[in-house]
Amino acid sequence: MIKIRVPATSANLGPGFDCLGIALNLYNYFIVEEIGVGLETNIIEEFSGRILDLALEDNLFVQAMKKVFDLTGQRIKGIRITEKINIPFARGLGSSASAVVAGLHAANYLTGNTIKEEDLLELAVAMEGHPDNVVPAYKGGFVINVLSSNGLSYKKLELDQELKFIVLIPDFELKTNAGRKALPEILTYSDAVFNISRAALLTASFYDKNYSNLRTAMEDKLHQDYRSRLIPGFYTVLDAAYNAGALGVALSGSGPTLIAIAEENLDEIGSSMVNAFKENDINSRYLVTRVDNDGCTIID
Ligand code: HSE
Repeated sequence: MIKIRVPATSANLGPGFDCLGIALNLYNYFIVEEIGVGLETNIIEEFSGRILDLALEDNLFVQAMKKVFDLTGQRIKGIRITEKINIPFARGLGSSASAVVAGLHAANYLTGNTIKEEDLLELAVAMEGHPDNVVPAYKGGFVINVLSSNGLSYKKLELDQELKFIVLIPDFELKTNAGRKALPEILTYSDAVFNISRAALLTASFYDKNYSNLRTAMEDKLHQDYRSRLIPGFYTVLDAAYNAGALGVALSGSGPTLIAIAEENLDEIGSSMVNAFKENDINSRYLVTRVDNDGCTIID
């Protein structure tokens, strides 16, 4: 039996579209047990108590395990999989990435760790389509990801546990495909410069633990404004977080969750954001999280 823990992630973090991401201490757990024969899956959404019924072809944990079994030519006759879900689906918190990373890691472990970590990461990126969720889910921390003709390069930075990330989760889903369809095909030089400068500033701010520039550093012109049109009251919520003392606020991944960075006034920031969404007839809840610097971990 193995039990794997995988953190939620927040991709993009403002200016880092498809390249920056952070792991948060909100976890999905995947338990794999060998049984006589066959495949059993149990999926429990822990925050709601619901038992989920997911077709095998939509179960990314199962699909990721299968990928490793196919590549290694190894098979296990019977498996029972239990998935304990705390990362809500389709909210911009890396629920798909967590399943992909955990499935690859679990199957590799069960087949003798024959696939190297860098190759597992490449597989994860290929399954997910972009690296900014899967790499922090696997490695933890704040991660800068670059895809080039040589494959994936990344740099992980462990962040301060004192820094808090308030995630404001609305009660509706927004699938990444829909979020990507909202994006324009062409961007201007000035928007590119806007984002490059802020992505560099954000990275340097985390590196030297000076958070005074986060408000500017979290700005974006590549995706947030286009996607905000799919989220009623987005800018009211963002402003509410700043008015309550947030240091930086952005859309989390492709949304609809927002992420606010703060060192104090945490509940005030969370409640202000919930109230601002309510004014737009959207129910939401907030969680105060911090960075997870460990990534995907076998805990049993
Ligand atoms: N970088 C991706 C996007 C993350 O914004 O579409 C979503 O999974």
